Amino acid sequence: MKYDVADLSLASEGKKLIFWADNDMPVLAAIRKRFAKSKPLRAMNVSACLHITSETANLARTLKAAGANVVLCASNPLSTNDKVAAALVKDFNIAVFAVCGENRSTYYKHINAAIDHKPVITLDDGADLVNELHTRRRKEAHRIIASMEETTTGVIRLRAMEKAGILKFPVIAVNDAATKHFFDNRYGTGQSTVDGIIRATDFLMAGKKIVVAGYGWCGRGFAMRARGMGAIVVVTEVEPIKALEAAMDGFTVMPMAEAAKLGELFVTLTGNKSVIRAEHFRLMQDRAVVANSGHFNVEIDIPALKRLSKKVNRHVRKHVDEYVLKNNKRIYLLAEGRLINLAAADGHPASVMDMSFATQALEAEYVTKRKGKLAVAVHDVPVEIEQRVSALKLKSMSLDIDELTAEQVDYLTSSAEGT
Ligand SMILES: NC(=O)c1ccc[n+]([C@@H]2O[C@H](COP(=O)([O-])OP(=O)(O)OC[C@H]3O[C@@H](n4cnc5c(N)ncnc54)[C@H](O)[C@@H]3O)[C@@H](O)[C@H]2O)c1
Repeated sequence: MKYDVADLSLASEGKKLIFWADNDMPVLAAIRKRFAKSKPLRAMNVSACLHITSETANLARTLKAAGANVVLCASNPLSTNDKVAAALVKDFNIAVFAVCGENRSTYYKHINAAIDHKPVITLDDGADLVNELHTRRRKEAHRIIASMEETTTGVIRLRAMEKAGILKFPVIAVNDAATKHFFDNRYGTGQSTVDGIIRATDFLMAGKKIVVAGYGWCGRGFAMRARGMGAIVVVTEVEPIKALEAAMDGFTVMPMAEAAKLGELFVTLTGNKSVIRAEHFRLMQDRAVVANSGHFNVEIDIPALKRLSKKVNRHVRKHVDEYVLKNNKRIYLLAEGRLINLAAADGHPASVMDMSFATQALEAEYVTKRKGKLAVAVHDVPVEIEQRVSALKLKSMSLDIDELTAEQVDYLTSSAEGT
């Protein structure tokens, strides 16, 4: 088996992390048990470009239990857990091409190794694998039954490809499933972004002025949690309804040009580029901390920050670079502007990834059953899958809910009664 991981001797630690996460992933475990019997992906090659974490390891185990030959590569150069990568290779016989801190050329070499596997199903977090299958490796695209996309930024890229008429195979927007973004983006990113910032800086949230750029699913989650820890939270937005929602949720809303003067910590969660740029850095206070939890490292204009600086002190603390501006103010950039929750912490807790990855696993079965029948388009996850995942999660939490009575079903489906 070919693979490229940092150090196989880390495997025993990685195996413990994988089993620890598995304890909190009961829905995925139930699916794995069923897949092990029915083998819905028998002998199929599957390549997944995902963050290499203990939760992803349990998804890979599930796909393997279903009969698939699975290869993994990283969806971000800084998010790989080298211990988990080693354990996947050594203990679970799953090929991994991912090394934490890999450079751009190795990152793409690894994606290409996953394509060399000749997959019929792909999974992506940010659409880099699919993009490669539409550009440099487009001759390999004919084989793909479908691809599944895990994050908002990936879905945006894929919808743009669909609109431009260049999409070559069906894609499932797993991110857009309620079982994914309601929980993973909001509670997962919300909590783990706080975790990553604290681990990187030892920052006290209480009483601090924190500026949150973007009040989408991730931004709401982070803003809510930062406030819960006593921070004074300011939200910046470009979309009026979201801005209004933030205001009515009790946050102060203002443009970045004003917030830049106030903030002690800035966090971008927009999926957009150059959200914090030169004009904002110039206004910031001495020792302002800047971090990103959106998918790509483009939300903070790092080249502009470099141009404004007379000196950069790398790694004044792990994951912290100190930029000394020409006006002598210092700005601390965390994790090189990459996803702070994955670079400096463990990413989302397993309990929330349970639902995202259960949705992924059931989708893999779904697209296989519909091989050749799905239109070349970006598809939503069918509501039956969302309901199945939610019901299993509630069961795992020992929560029961009410059922509609026959009278209620009748009432909700008729226009006859008003009183
Ligand atoms: N860190 C993680 O683990 C993680 C997890 C899930 C998603 N993501 C990524 O986080 C990003 C946000 O995802 P989401 O699901 O919250 O998306 P979303 O679409 O729900 O929210 C993004 C928000 O940002 C706002 N926005 C866009 N440009 C802006 C600007 N210049 N200034 C202020 N606000 C702006 C939009 O109006 C929108 O409300 C995406 O890149 C997504 O891929 C990261």
